[in-house]
Amino acid sequence: MHSNAMPPEISGTSGGIPEATVARLPVYLRALYGLAERGISTVASEELAAAAGVNSAKLRKDLSHLGSYGIRGVGYDVDYLVYQVSRTLGLTQDWPVVIVGAGNLGRALANYGGFVSRGFTISAMLDSDPAIVGTRIAGLTVRHVDELEAVVARHKVAIGVIAVPASSAQAVCDRLVAAGVTSILNFAPLVLNVPEGVDVRKVDLSIELQILAFHAQRRSGARPGAEPGGGHPGALNGMHAAAARQPVTSELAAQA
Ligand code: NAI
Repeated sequence: MHSNAMPPEISGTSGGIPEATVARLPVYLRALYGLAERGISTVASEELAAAAGVNSAKLRKDLSHLGSYGIRGVGYDVDYLVYQVSRTLGLTQDWPVVIVGAGNLGRALANYGGFVSRGFTISAMLDSDPAIVGTRIAGLTVRHVDELEAVVARHKVAIGVIAVPASSAQAVCDRLVAAGVTSILNFAPLVLNVPEGVDVRKVDLSIELQILAFHAQRRSGARPGAEPGGGHPGALNGMHAAAARQPVTSELAAQA
C-alpha cells in the first residue's frame, strides 16, 4: 500500500514524458483553447508561454517531449497542438466518470458542463442517503452506492470522483478500487491509502486559498503572523492554527 501524501507527479517520468511536463500540459491546453476561441490559428512560443504563465524555454522543452517543435518564425499551429496535447493526455478518447457523493460538491461538479467538452462523461452519481437516491441531478438519476460495482462494470468507469465526507472516503475508495477503478479524484480532506497502480489526485481548495493568502500578505507588506485588517496575532486559533500547520504540497507547484 502507498499513500498519496506527497504527490508523485512532481518528479519521475510517465511514458518518457517528465511528470512535471505532464502536469503543465492541461495548462497549455487551457491557453490553447483560449487562443482558438479568439480565432488565432498560429502562436509563437513566447505568446503561448505568456498565456500559460510559464517561461518560453520551459514551454519549448515541454512540447519537444511531444515531438512538437513549431516552425521557426511562424510558431505552433494551434489546432494541431491542441490535438497533440489532447492525445498525449489521453483526451481524444471518452472517459466515463462516476461521482460518489451527491451533496453540495457532487451536484456542483455534475452540473459543470466543462467536463463533457473535455471528454469526461459523468456516467453515474451515487449516494447513500435514501432522500437523495432517486432524485435527478444534471440529467442523471442518483443511484444507491450499493450499485457501485454494477455501475462501474456497466459504464466501464475509468475515473472515480470522491465527494463524500472524510469519514466515508476511504471505504468508498476501497470499493472503487475493488471494482477496478484505477484513477481517483479525491475531494475529501484526508489522505487515501491505495494499492500500487492506482492514481489518486487530491483537490483541496483550502490549500490554494492559503497560497493566495501568502501572496496577498507579501503584496501588502504585512508581517507573517500579523492578522489582516489589524487583528492581533493571538487570534490565530482554531481553524486558522490548523490551517497554518498544513503542509503545502499543492499540485500547482508542478505548474510553476
Ligand atoms: P455534503 O454533506 O453536501 O455531501 C456529501 C454527500 O455524501 C451526502 O449526500 C451524503 O449522503 C453522501 N455520502 C455520505 N457517505 C456516503 C457513502 N458512504 N457513500 C455514498 N455517499 C455518501 O458535503 P459536500 O459539501 O458536498 O462535501 C463533500 C466532500 O467534499 C467533503 O468531504 C468535503 O470536506 C469535501 N470538500 C472538499 C473541497 C475541496 O476543495 N477539496 C471543497 C468542498 C468540499
